[in-house]
Amino acid sequence: MKIQIDDKTFEPFIPEAKILERVAEVANQITEDYRDRKPLIIGVLSGSFLFLADLVKQITPPTEISFVKIASYDGERSTGKLKVQLGLYSDLTDRHVIVVEDIVDTGHTLQFLLEMIYAEKPASVQVCSLLYKPAACGLSFKELSYIGFEIPSEFVLGYGLDYKGRGRNLRDIYRLAPN
Ligand code: XMP
Ligand code: MG
Repeated sequence: MKIQIDDKTFEPFIPEAKILERVAEVANQITEDYRDRKPLIIGVLSGSFLFLADLVKQITPPTEISFVKIASYDGERSTGKLKVQLGLYSDLTDRHVIVVEDIVDTGHTLQFLLEMIYAEKPASVQVCSLLYKPAACGLSFKELSYIGFEIPSEFVLGYGLDYKGRGRNLRDIYRLAPN
């Protein structure tokens, strides 16, 4: 079923069942890779909150969870301006960090965040993103080892992602539909 938010119409794209199936696969991969290390998971607020919650429940090595909040988006378009709204508050020195993102689009947010993280001298850094838009991302990240779904360069929302602050609580992921 299509949904309307403000001036935009969105159509179903990735159903909840498919999301959860993929989240379980990614969690298993992380569990296996971090069998001998205790990772520090850093969730990027706000968009990653549902993904992070479903993911960490299925990761079995002991983990610590921390958050950052970086705002980069204004409605449907990246403003290019990044603002740290909640900074890194855990000690990252010598830690095995896993950054959990909702989406890597242009990659600017991730690049900015990785610089902040490396400045703290972690032992290792990997990135886990639910969604990745390869055609929109002009940057390549060696850290981006865990990807839920590669998607075309279309605006999406639901399962944590918003349009003008709305749609985060939708169980499925939707994409912008022609009006
Ligand atoms: P960049 O372009 O810096 O984007 O990689 C990163 C942040 O921008 C938000 N973003 C989106 N939010 N639908 C959304 O609801 C999208 O299609 C979308 N693309 C980017 C998101 O917060 C991400 O962390
Ligand atoms: Mg985000």
